[in-house]
This record gives sequence, C-alpha cells and structure tokens, in this order.
Amino acid sequence: MKRILYLIIIAVSLSNTLFAQDWIVPDNQKDRLATFSFDENAISSGSALYLTNCKSCHGMPGEGNFAPLVPPPPDPEAAGFQSNSDGELYYKIRNGRGLMLGFQNILNSRETWETIAYVRSFNPDYLQEVSTLTGGLNKRWTDITIALMEENEETITALVSGTENGEITPVTGAEVKLMVKRTFGYLPIGELIITDELGKASFISPKDLPGDPDGTLELSVQLYDEEQFGVVITDATLAVGMPFTAVSLTEKRAMWNSMNKAPYWIIFSYFIAVLAVWGLIFYVLLQLRTIFMLGKKHGNNLKTQM
Ligand code: HEC
Repeated sequence: MKRILYLIIIAVSLSNTLFAQDWIVPDNQKDRLATFSFDENAISSGSALYLTNCKSCHGMPGEGNFAPLVPPPPDPEAAGFQSNSDGELYYKIRNGRGLMLGFQNILNSRETWETIAYVRSFNPDYLQEVSTLTGGLNKRWTDITIALMEENEETITALVSGTENGEITPVTGAEVKLMVKRTFGYLPIGELIITDELGKASFISPKDLPGDPDGTLELSVQLYDEEQFGVVITDATLAVGMPFTAVSLTEKRAMWNSMNKAPYWIIFSYFIAVLAVWGLIFYVLLQLRTIFMLGKKHGNNLKTQM
C-alpha cells in the first residue's frame, strides 16, 4: 500500500516538472512598453480589473492564496512573476496558455496595461520605462482621437482625426475595431473597417443586439494597429441596439418562486397531500380507538364470564 502511495507521489511530481515548461514569448514582443505611465489612476483602475478578472485564480498579490491548479497560477508579487518584462506580462495576459485563458477579448489593451500597473505596484524595485512612441510608429499624426456617432438608423460612424503639422486632419487608412461591452468582455461588431479619405469608418448598427430598455449599448472603438498609432480607444453609449427590458424570473407564479407566488396547482396539490397525510393519521387513530374499545368490551365480557 505504502509503495503504491510513493509511486503516485513520484508520478505526480514528475508530471508537474515535465509540464512546467518555460513560457516562450516571441522576441519582438518582449520589449513592448506601455505608452502611458503607471500612475495612481492606472493602478486603481487596474486594481478593480484585477479583482474581477484575475483574483479568482491568482489570489491577492503577496498573500499566496492562489487557486490550487496545476501548474499553479503564480502569486503576482513573487519574484518569478515580477521577473517578466512588461512586454512579457502583456503577451502572456493577452494570449494565455492552458488554464490561464487569453484576455484578448476581455480586456482592451489599455485595461491590460492597467492590470500590469496594478501588479507592478507590489514590486518596490520596479521602475517603469514608458514607451517614447506615445503615438505609435506613424510619423504623420499625433494626439489621435476617435469620435463615435450614429450616422443614421443603419450605420454607426467612427471619425478618426489627429494633429498633423499643427492642424487637425483626418487619419486615413487606419483599421478601426468596433466592440460592444458585455458583462464578460467585449463583443466585436463586424469586421475591421479602414478609414476613408475623410477619416471615416462606417459600421452596420447592431440592431438585433439587446441593450437597455431604450436600446442603449456601451460601445468601445479602437484603432487596431497599436504599433502604428499607439493606444487609441474611445468609449461611447449610443441607443443603437434593440430595446430590451429584462424580465424578472420571480415576477410571475413559478415553481422556483416563494410560497406566495407558487403556481396554483402546486399550492392545491400541497394542501391535498397535507390533508391526505392528516386524514391517514386520523384514520389510524380512529382504528386504534376502535380496537381499544373492542378490547375493553371483550375484556369485560371475559371478566363477567369468569
Ligand atoms: C482560470 C484561472 C486564471 C485566471 C482567471 C487568470 N490566470 Fe493568470 N495564470 C493561471 C495559471 C494556471 C497560470 C500558469 C500557466 C502556465 O504556466 O502554464 C497563469 C499564469 C499567468 C502569468 C504568467 C506568469 C509567469 O511568470 O509566467 C501571468 C502574467 C498571469 N497569469 C496574469 C494574469 C492576469 C493579469 C489575470 C487577470 C487579467 C489572470 N492571469 C487571470 C490562471 C489564471
């Protein structure tokens, strides 16, 4: 018995070492840097993102209370985790591996960097290097912004503009990605659309997508090629979805509702069943009483005969 136990322990630890392979990040991704500084705002947004998206597995940084998975999700405060470069963290969070799911469609790039800002705040030795390419590799525009508007019933238009030689001009030939914020992450709407000579990219309205009671959707639009243009993201709320009022599951009479709101047939059968049980008890008591009376009578008869 003991030998089998030892064998199992050896097998489990062996498989762990075999599977704990290095996580290779492509060379061109390792040096990627955030284009904004990890200030208090970034850290506090990152903290909220970490709590909703990462804490369930990685635990609170520094507390070692990560989930018991194989391989274990490392504590972000641990030296091994912190020895990753910013680019490596970014790559690993976006792409994932095994149980560590990729967050590409759950966090946008700014949110990914904010999460990194938060985990870095637990490393006193960390000094951030901010990318000098704030506006990306493109040499033409700086301070690029996107405005999102409802062009008409059918289309939503993103208007991209930037500063070029001191003047604001349309940003042309940039791929634009439109997404809708859902409870868990982002849902892409249509394909990437390239801006025309007016800096416009038009998308078909997601009219069949349920929004608020007045059809309001939370949209997020961004330039896809971050290397070229830097992180350019705009959030907007537009009433372009399908008006939708969530029906409460406990509003009508239903099996799962409280006693007051149970279906009539359940209340009816319940009372019938209760009555039947009480009736049976009563019947048994009555029978007992009859037996008792009979016994008494015959007992008396016996006594008188003797
Ligand atoms: C479902 C559980 C789970 C969730 C949720 C999760 N992770 Fe992970 N994470 C893991 C596991 C497991 C590993 C180890 C993967 C491996 O080595 O193959 C890991 C590894 C990592 C690594 C690599 C560490 C290293 O040194 O190589 C980083 C970085 C990371 N996670 C960051 C995050 C961030 C940030 C979030 C939230 C946005 C997150 N994780 C959410 C389970 C999770």
